[in-house]
Amino acid sequence: MPVGFFDSGLGGLCILEAFKKACPHESTVYIADSANCPYGNKSAEEIIRLAEACTAELLERRCKMIVVACNTATAAAIDVLRDRHRDVPFIGIEPAVKPAALRSKSGVVGVLATAGTFNGRLYRETKARFAKGVTVIASVADEFVSLVERGETSSHRAETIVRAKVEPLLAAGADHIVLGCTHFPHLRPLIEKVSAGRADVIDSSEAVAQQARRVLARCGMLASESATPVHEFIRKVHTRQCAVRMV
Ligand code: DGL
Repeated sequence: MPVGFFDSGLGGLCILEAFKKACPHESTVYIADSANCPYGNKSAEEIIRLAEACTAELLERRCKMIVVACNTATAAAIDVLRDRHRDVPFIGIEPAVKPAALRSKSGVVGVLATAGTFNGRLYRETKARFAKGVTVIASVADEFVSLVERGETSSHRAETIVRAKVEPLLAAGADHIVLGCTHFPHLRPLIEKVSAGRADVIDSSEAVAQQARRVLARCGMLASESATPVHEFIRKVHTRQCAVRMV
C-alpha cells in the first residue's frame, strides 16, 4: 500500500523527494491540488474541505499513511483529519521555528510562510514554547507560491521578488530564515543567494521525511526491502485532472 501526500500544488514535492530518500522501498501517491492553489489566504473551513477531498482521494487509492505536505493545510486541518480518520496515521509539517530559535546567535529569526500558517494554533504554540527571548519576524510571502506553481524559480523577476521579501528580514538582523511553506524550498537557491554570508536558510522537509519513516516503522507498516516502488503523481488543474504513473 502506498503512502499518500497532498499539497495545494507542487510545493510538497520537496517533502516527497526527502521521503523517497528516507524510504526508498515505499510506493507513493502525490496529489497537487493546483486547481485550488493558493490555500494560503483561504478560510480554515475552506482549507478543511479541500484537505478532506484530497484525503478521500488518497484513501480511495488505499494509502496506508497520509503526509499533509503543506504547512497551511496542517495548520487548518490536521486536527480534523486525525479526528475523522482515526485508523490512518497523518504526518503534518510546521515551520522550523524551534531549530532556528535554538541556533540563532543574533536572537532574530525570519519566517516566510502564508497567512494561514501564521494564524494557526501550531505556529503560535511553537513560537511561544520554543522561541522565548527570540524575536521572530513573520513575513507572508504568497508571491513565492505562484512563482513555483508557474515553474518560475530562477528568472530575474523571481530574484527581484525573493530579494524584496528576504532583504527586510536580513536588515532586521535575522541570522536564520525559515522556509515555512513547502513551495519555498523550490526557491532555495535564490533565497540562499540573497542571504549568503548573512543568514542560514532552513526548512522542515528532512525532519518530516524522518518522522514519516519513524511512524511507518512504529506501526509495522514499512514496505519490504524487496518491494518495487510505484510513484503516482496527480495534478488537479482547473477543468481536467492529469495523472502520471511512474515506476
Ligand atoms: N505549500 C503550502 C504550504 O506549505 C501553501 C501554499 C499555498 O498558499 O497554497 O503552506
